[in-house]
Amino acid sequence: MTSAPPRSLLSVNDLQNDHIQRILDVAQQFHKEPASGATLLTGRIVVTLFFEPSTRTRLSFESAALRLNARVISVADAISSSSVSKGETIADTVRIVESYSDLIVMRHPIEGSAAEAARYAHVPIVNAGDGAGEHPTQALLDLFTIQSERGSISGTTVALVGDLRFGRTVHSLCRLLARWGCTMLLVSPPSLELPPSIATELHAAGAHLREATLEEALQRAEVIYVTRIQKERFADGREYETVRGSYRLTASLLHEHAPQATILHPLPRIDEIATDVDALPAAAYFRQAANGIPVRMAILALLLRALPW
Ligand code: NCD
Repeated sequence: MTSAPPRSLLSVNDLQNDHIQRILDVAQQFHKEPASGATLLTGRIVVTLFFEPSTRTRLSFESAALRLNARVISVADAISSSSVSKGETIADTVRIVESYSDLIVMRHPIEGSAAEAARYAHVPIVNAGDGAGEHPTQALLDLFTIQSERGSISGTTVALVGDLRFGRTVHSLCRLLARWGCTMLLVSPPSLELPPSIATELHAAGAHLREATLEEALQRAEVIYVTRIQKERFADGREYETVRGSYRLTASLLHEHAPQATILHPLPRIDEIATDVDALPAAAYFRQAANGIPVRMAILALLLRALPW
């Protein structure tokens, strides 16, 4: 490995391509032989600190840590039961929690909060979602899933559908897809387009991206990545009502326009993918969620230096 490995994982931009490849390779090994990590993190303690709701991300991090034989501690409901609800700053919370642990997995509603935590922590911080910012571990498992479902990532045409403005998984994933030379077709209501700062960053990196209608995207894409409208990020509930239900994939729509495409979704889904899609072989979103285990095992083992980068 030529470049210095990251201490924390706050953004996908913390990772060089060789780090990403290494995460995917280690994840592939854990996917094939889950027991091969059985003692790697013996004696280590991982903390999960979630200030926003989560099912998949927290449980899969905890399960991944346990499969590596780490011990896990957590605040059951950090939103209301931690000292942050009493007004404690992120800096103080992290200064305390780091003395109880070897690595902190954190989710917080404020963009930049994980980076703020990393400024004060001496242990690695993993960003499990910072507001509408990024969700790098989700994007890594999305990339892993594209590789396992399609056989390769390079040059794939991916439609990103839904809330591209607030969807933090999209913000991380589009940066990874750009590095693999993927073409991105952006499908969203006008008020939920990709933030201009991210579009500018991607264009400057030479990424292939363009806006498309849902029908066009379905016809061209090899992978369709659908997201939930992030209701909790809207300052005004009426604005949410204007975009609610503005796109919905059904089995008949896919049958007609995209019979070969792989369907991904970071979950939870609300109504943007009809349940009649679930039975299609191309509906990969539950396999995608399961891939969270080997990918997060790889991230934990590498950040804790239990395996070489
Ligand atoms: C996503 C998130 O929290 O950003 N969920 C997840 O981690 N799988 C997507 C979402 O909440 O819509």
